[in-house]
Amino acid sequence: FIVRPFLDPVPSLPGLFISIGFSLFAFMATLYLVPALGPTFIKAHLSGRDLLKVYATPIPESLGLVCASVYILALTLFIPFAFSDSLTARSTQTPEGISVPEFPHSRLSLYLSSLLSLLMATILGFLDDVFDIRWRHKLPIPIIASIPLLMVYFAERGNTHIVVPLPLRFLLGSLLNLGPLYYLYMSLLSTFATNSINILAGINGSEVSQALIIAISVILNDLLYLPWPIGFHLPVHLLGSKAEVEFGGVWSAGMAYGSKELVERHLFSLYFMLPLVAVCSGFMYHNWYPARAFPGDTLCYVTGMAFAVVGIQGHFSKTLLLFFLPQIFNFVLSCPQLFGLVPCPRHRVPRFDAGTNLLHPSKAMFMRPPSKLAATVLRIFSVFGLVELTLHPSGVILETTNLTILNFFLVRLGPMNEKRLVQVLICSQICGSVLAFSVRYGLAGLVYDG
Ligand code: UD1
Ligand code: MG
Repeated sequence: FIVRPFLDPVPSLPGLFISIGFSLFAFMATLYLVPALGPTFIKAHLSGRDLLKVYATPIPESLGLVCASVYILALTLFIPFAFSDSLTARSTQTPEGISVPEFPHSRLSLYLSSLLSLLMATILGFLDDVFDIRWRHKLPIPIIASIPLLMVYFAERGNTHIVVPLPLRFLLGSLLNLGPLYYLYMSLLSTFATNSINILAGINGSEVSQALIIAISVILNDLLYLPWPIGFHLPVHLLGSKAEVEFGGVWSAGMAYGSKELVERHLFSLYFMLPLVAVCSGFMYHNWYPARAFPGDTLCYVTGMAFAVVGIQGHFSKTLLLFFLPQIFNFVLSCPQLFGLVPCPRHRVPRFDAGTNLLHPSKAMFMRPPSKLAATVLRIFSVFGLVELTLHPSGVILETTNLTILNFFLVRLGPMNEKRLVQVLICSQICGSVLAFSVRYGLAGLVYDG
């Protein structure tokens, strides 16, 4: 094990404590504002019926807008504090002898471009709630919203290399520069992060609990890189050094572990994740079964964009993707329905049995026999126990359970009530994060050398 001293003086941490203070404010504001503004949303026709209940009382929808507003407000008010060390920084002399205060303009552009992307995601999400925008129209928007982030990444000379795993090195060499492809990957990441939470939805607490667990996972990962006082410091450093030695900088941008910039990047991520955890926890209280408020697409988009922002700006997009394992599974499973191979009803939520209060897998019916490709894919899914098919005596597929992770849980574990299903989803998200940490800091050593 190598314990490295910090290369540069580390940034001071008071900003972090102020961020925690703002987050507490954001938590209380969300807790109070969501029920207070619910009737206003219903009056503005922003409400929906809870599909998995016997009652038809309108539930206020799109309250993610309140979360997003509180979140963005907290981040905006925090700007001077994020740069408080620079406000009192020493001045430097230009060659002409003019004294100019040192100010980290690149850090400011990083922060402002992130806010811009978050605002664009909020607008898109809210428009989607109001107008139900079509898939093909809303897919490119997060890509456009990520352009400010990518420009700042470029300006910062962000890494576009990946380290090739040992077994492929004879073919590709040890370092591969993906160049523009890396930017394409990062912009697709923003589309994926925003939409993947939205399509894993429909039961009380599902959207917000995913966002909450991913945000907590990102925070735990960030904490590993902070300059902790001696004592707690050592094991964290051992872990970090080990990761650096084994990964050779694949996962992060190739920075020496413990450098000032690396600490700053993870501080930046914490500044964006702490208030997110706060608004999500405040909202979850009202969205928990039986829900008194729905998040709408606004919450899904803004939380997804927040993850894309920290993943790109913090240079840990691959680690971030590891925290999306249930969403990746749900997306891959959903592909045949998303891309029109299998019929996709407007709602793919499980079927509610009012008599027993249990949820059963919902089904998609084929109006005409499925294409050869669709039938093959569904049969493969069925062999792996991912779906249940209803077959005509001739063998033709008549129905399939909808291709979502929620229906998959019901197929595998049997019918259960809505609260239990969201608890299963939460468990899978937590297990995904535990797995992500073991892959990131453990298993990668098997495929990458120092
Ligand atoms: C996505 C899913 C859709 C799912 C829907 C549920 C895809 C391609 N789309 O569509 O299958 O049915 O989310 O959110 O996978 N609702 C509840 N309980 C909840 C949350 C929502 O009943 O806990 C219902 C309400 O009627 C609410 C509606 O879902 O009005 C919101 O649906 P919306 O977010 O507009 O659906 P999409 O995101 O388009
Ligand atoms: Mg939605």
